[in-house]
Amino acid sequence: MDVRRILATKRDGQALSKADIDAFITGYVAGDVRDYEASALLMAIFMVGMEEDELFHWTGAMLRSGDVMDLEGIAGQKADKHSTGGVGDKVSIPLAPAVAACGVRVPMVSGRGLGHTGGTLDKLESIPGFRTALDPATFRRVLERTGVAFGGQTERLVPADKKLYALRDVTGLVASIPLMASSILSKKLAEGLDALVLDVKFGSGAFLADPERGAELARTMLGLTERFGLPATVFQTSMGQPLGLAVGHTLEIAESLACLAGDGPADLRELVTTFGGELLVACGAAEDLDAGRGAVAASLDDGRAMDVFERVVAEQGGDTACIADPGALPSAPDVETIVAEEEGVLLFADCCAVGEAVAVLGGGRQRLEDEIDPVVGVVFHKRAGERVRAGDALVEIHHRDGAGLPKCRRHLARALWIDEIGEAWERPPLVLSRLTA
Ligand code: URA
Repeated sequence: MDVRRILATKRDGQALSKADIDAFITGYVAGDVRDYEASALLMAIFMVGMEEDELFHWTGAMLRSGDVMDLEGIAGQKADKHSTGGVGDKVSIPLAPAVAACGVRVPMVSGRGLGHTGGTLDKLESIPGFRTALDPATFRRVLERTGVAFGGQTERLVPADKKLYALRDVTGLVASIPLMASSILSKKLAEGLDALVLDVKFGSGAFLADPERGAELARTMLGLTERFGLPATVFQTSMGQPLGLAVGHTLEIAESLACLAGDGPADLRELVTTFGGELLVACGAAEDLDAGRGAVAASLDDGRAMDVFERVVAEQGGDTACIADPGALPSAPDVETIVAEEEGVLLFADCCAVGEAVAVLGGGRQRLEDEIDPVVGVVFHKRAGERVRAGDALVEIHHRDGAGLPKCRRHLARALWIDEIGEAWERPPLVLSRLTA
């Protein structure tokens, strides 16, 4: 393979051939193509984009870079959901067990933290002992026994995405429509699904803040799922403020446990029931969306979703003490509370800055090899649009011995805005649109 020719082709704005794409992806996974060469190609794709056929071949090459899951013989429909990433987006964690409790299996292959957003795998691994690097046989066994399995890309499952995703994270190459679409769908196509929900975030905490660009990503992904023969629905949902109140790994597990107990923030529950309802209908497990939503809500309220989650945690090696007592999760040694300096209405000026505030505490990766500190993060006391008085607690910062604290405070100051009390603030819709192929 002539790597320099391939790089020059893309740099000059031309489409790569299927043969070049296959050679490049295979070579990268084998270690013959170096990270600096892959970074150059990713940058060129970021700048130039990809044609429809080229993206189809690129996604297929990523999908074929490792094993595809063999879920043959496992009874029942299989469904999953994936998000483009947001701040405090923990929906997958309560959603998967809730859907499984309603009779649809969820073989979930998720990603790690990327840019200013956290990743489902990192969040789950903040439960002591929880393993997400499952070999295919273990993944299958967990799925058969519990109805859910939470895995990540491994050396065998979509290894191309494992490497490219990490590289994009540290080179500022996340917000690209073809790279996002291929990254997300290569993982989801490897699962052998009957139905998929895609959550495309918009707003200041999303990679694609502009809803129009989000809609373009949605159409791109729906075009790909159609060509690959996977029934999919896309929802565009708001990331103008963090989802729920907690941002940070163990803090988000605690909030997910609250949702699984039929409690927790209303926005989190709304997305869990909306996406879950959609998946149940798509899999023939509910007659219509209202019935689907109701079934998912019931599984949260009557403890069935929590039972499934407890079994998954146990099967994947995690300590189940947190199920009965979320206080058993590891926690940060230090907490500082930021209070409002004036009266007004709380608004989120920049939700991305909340993700950055958590990252500088140690809750995100600055470099490929960085370890995440799972216990640091922030917990809001107020939601956007709420009235606050001077001295009211706005947000708790969970930190470790002050590491990153001054920077975190600066990011939060940028993130939050206290507006004058004037006309009633209108909350933007949480779910902006629903699209199908
Ligand atoms: N989630 C993914 O899996 N990939 C992306 O590129 C962005 C979000």
